[in-house]
Amino acid sequence: MAEALLAGLLQSGAVKSSNIWATDVSQDRLNFLKKKYQVYIGTDNTEAVKWATVIILAVKPQVLPHVLSQVKKGLKRTQLVISIAAGVPLSKIIGGLSSSASVIRAMPNTPCLVQQGATALTTGKTVTQDQLQMAEAIFEASGKVVVVEETLMDAVTGLSGSGPAYVYVMIEALADGGVRMGLPRHIAQTLATQTVLGTANLVSVSGEHPGLLKDRVTSPGGTTIAGLHELEKGGVRAIFMTAVEAATKRSQELGS
Ligand SMILES: NC(=O)c1ccc[n+]([C@@H]2O[C@H](COP(=O)([O-])OP(=O)(O)OC[C@H]3O[C@@H](n4cnc5c(N)ncnc54)[C@H](OP(=O)(O)O)[C@@H]3O)[C@@H](O)[C@H]2O)c1
Repeated sequence: MAEALLAGLLQSGAVKSSNIWATDVSQDRLNFLKKKYQVYIGTDNTEAVKWATVIILAVKPQVLPHVLSQVKKGLKRTQLVISIAAGVPLSKIIGGLSSSASVIRAMPNTPCLVQQGATALTTGKTVTQDQLQMAEAIFEASGKVVVVEETLMDAVTGLSGSGPAYVYVMIEALADGGVRMGLPRHIAQTLATQTVLGTANLVSVSGEHPGLLKDRVTSPGGTTIAGLHELEKGGVRAIFMTAVEAATKRSQELGS
């Protein structure tokens, strides 16, 4: 995830590589990042923090307490800390730093890897408007950004966090349908993938309600309404809704 954000930032031109310092425990990984992105590298988190305006924590949740203790040693009041550790609440991050620390919690998703991510941000009390704007700019370099209350972060996890897996299944199933009807696998997969991609783009660019767009491609007695009828018989809407609900509840369970 850190590399995806890094690549997005550099591609967007929002930040120069000479203004980024990447840390990791693996020297091989750091050498790779330096070669590919020409960023500063180092293994010392405390040292990197002293130098930074924004500190992004992109380690696994179980590693976070250790990294927070290192960050805390170099942290100044004016700096912004952004954590992308899934399920770790603001209170825990602030608790590991200081009560005056400015902290934003972010929930990005894997399409950030191709700069098409969906990220939700939630802010701690001491975060300024400028700092929030900075965080929005960072994640906008890798896709779309929304700001929500922290209580909604589990729902974000259930929708956009787990969502890519639902869509993978949808693409695979559509392709299987094509294969069942005689299309070669590679052609079926190309058509299924491009259909999902193009349709999502159309919804996003037009800003129109998906129901309206659906009605426009559904002619009376035609092929599309025949297919839609089968989806409705299978309870497709309820299934997607309960999938989001189940993933949200699981996220709540894991966080409690
Ligand atoms: N992947 C997703 O879709 C996604 C979505 C939303 C949120 N997140 C969150 O993003 C965070 C990172 O996920 P990821 O999938 O990118 O994990 P990851 O591939 O394991 O990346 C974490 C990186 O941090 C390095 N690291 C470990 N200890 C460190 C330390 N003390 N100081 C500096 N770097 C250290 C790791 O090195 P080693 O590999 O050598 O240990 C690894 O390169 C997680 O908290 C996850 O919950 C991920």
